[in-house]
Amino acid sequence: MTIEKNKKMNKGEVTLIERVANEMFLIKIKVAADFEPRAGQFVSILCDNHTMRRPFSIMNFLDGEISILFKKKGDGTAYIANLNVGDTVDFIGPMGNGFQCVSEKTLCVGAGVGVAPVYYLKKVLGENARLIAGFQNSNEIPACLQDEIDFISTDDGSFGAHGSIIDYLDAQINEYKPERICVCGPHIVLKLVAEKAKAHGIPCEVAMEKTMACSIGVCRGCVVTLNRSGKIDNASVCKDGPVFLGEEIVW
Ligand SMILES: Cc1cc2nc3c(=O)[nH]c(=O)nc-3n(C[C@H](O)[C@H](O)[C@H](O)COP(=O)(O)OP(=O)(O)OC[C@H]3O[C@@H](n4cnc5c(N)ncnc54)[C@H](O)[C@@H]3O)c2cc1C
Ligand code: FES
Repeated sequence: MTIEKNKKMNKGEVTLIERVANEMFLIKIKVAADFEPRAGQFVSILCDNHTMRRPFSIMNFLDGEISILFKKKGDGTAYIANLNVGDTVDFIGPMGNGFQCVSEKTLCVGAGVGVAPVYYLKKVLGENARLIAGFQNSNEIPACLQDEIDFISTDDGSFGAHGSIIDYLDAQINEYKPERICVCGPHIVLKLVAEKAKAHGIPCEVAMEKTMACSIGVCRGCVVTLNRSGKIDNASVCKDGPVFLGEEIVW
């Protein structure tokens, strides 16, 4: 099934592709036997004849298959959405560092398609994690995840609690009392969650998203500025991340 594997270069076979929400798709790809991803890592997919691979978080890894949840946006994601079961996907990965937490009681926070890597983290942590997520409206909630998310909010109130997931963060923290918070979503959500975590004195890991070109730490197109105990540093999201400590990011 898996056709070849050279270092992190992979080719795998599509075993499932389905629409799970408005313009959102789930794809499963059979991967090599020694493929061992951790939550928060990503794969970079070759999309037809586009030189730049497209990065996607790994949403799950089960029975030798990775799942990816993706939103159709431009040419690259349209190409993936048009793949069929049995087609071959050319990808690099697993890439990046992934979430570092292993045993702490963790509040996993997702927003939109950013729910993917924190869903995987919750799967890995099991009983030691709670997953909460915010979406624009009920049509944006992936059907494959709806029953697996412990608390959902929608901006328009069409499903779950009414409002942004940020509106409910204090209450969730006070009730669940996490030792760590891990978050993925739009930049503003990452920033606000990191600020809330800091206010509560809880370590926070944020999975950053930056437009990527090379995806392998060469072009420096995905740089984020860090402040590590007063020392200003530039890091590549693709190579040094995508997960960073919220308190270290210069927002
Ligand atoms: C670490 C990481 C993980 C991601 N995980 C997911 C995921 O799980 N699901 C999901 O739907 N999306 C994810 N994204 C965003 C996804 O990579 C983009 O939506 C996708 O590359 C858009 O490609 P396109 O050709 O359809 O869109 P276009 O807008 O046509 O893309 C044009 C170019 O910009 C780049 N680009 C555009 N938007 C982004 C972006 N947000 N991040 C990086 N490069 C971008 C593309 O790679 C391409 O080179 C992730 C991004 C990063 C950096
Ligand atoms: S995308 Fe080139 S360094 Fe990260």
